[in-house]
Amino acid sequence: MLHSLDLNADSNLLRRSAPTSFSESHDVLDLVYIAIVQTPTNQQGCPGMKDEQLHDLILQSLEHEMGGVEVYETALKCVVNDDLKEEWTKYLEQTRTHVEVLHSVCEAFGLDPNEHAPSRKVVRTIGSALVKAMHVALEEGSAEAAQLVACEAVVIAETKDHADWELLAKCAEKLTGSKAAALEKACNEVEDQEDEHLYHSKGWCRELWMQSLGLPPVLPPPEERKNVKTAIGASRAEQAAEKTRKRSNAKR
Ligand SMILES: [Fe+2]
Ligand SMILES: [Fe+2]
Repeated sequence: MLHSLDLNADSNLLRRSAPTSFSESHDVLDLVYIAIVQTPTNQQGCPGMKDEQLHDLILQSLEHEMGGVEVYETALKCVVNDDLKEEWTKYLEQTRTHVEVLHSVCEAFGLDPNEHAPSRKVVRTIGSALVKAMHVALEEGSAEAAQLVACEAVVIAETKDHADWELLAKCAEKLTGSKAAALEKACNEVEDQEDEHLYHSKGWCRELWMQSLGLPPVLPPPEERKNVKTAIGASRAEQAAEKTRKRSNAKR
């Protein structure tokens, strides 16, 4: 919202100065020049990138990983499938490590990891809602139903987790100096795991839903067997599951 307001302010400034003559068109060029030259530059010398927003992203990523630990701890109370239990146990440990990694990033950026930010409150609220939904499912429904709720909670949580790290990696590419090195190191350590968390969890969620509907599931999902780490790979794995399903439907 803040960004769009900034843009509107800039465009109003330019509109007010629309040229009516050659000399006035120079005024407009001056304004464009001033707008470009005066674009906020971050401490690492990257024009355009906003330090405050990057700091907020780091803090909300940390908050999200902290919430992720609780999501996995609760999901493990809902899980029925042994292979999925093993998978989520591994993801829980990795998520705990991601919290530590982001603490190191905070240190490199001179940020207080406990600093309050409105975005953190939002992230915490969503995480708590996912945990609460799983508790409701455990109390109200069957074990299989609770497992499905847990799968969906994990996919929702991992979607943001994946997006956070993708954005952090993009920022690391633009930065220079010691902060760039710290952020790049963190992303290299975590990004591959986040790919697996998201794509494999989506596969589990889809196939366990199929099973619950009485449709032939492909378990473990192809994302697991093919060790999928990319969106293209995930799409291929989903197509492979569909082919297997059609073959098994034809045999029925
Ligand atoms: Fe994570
Ligand atoms: Fe994750």
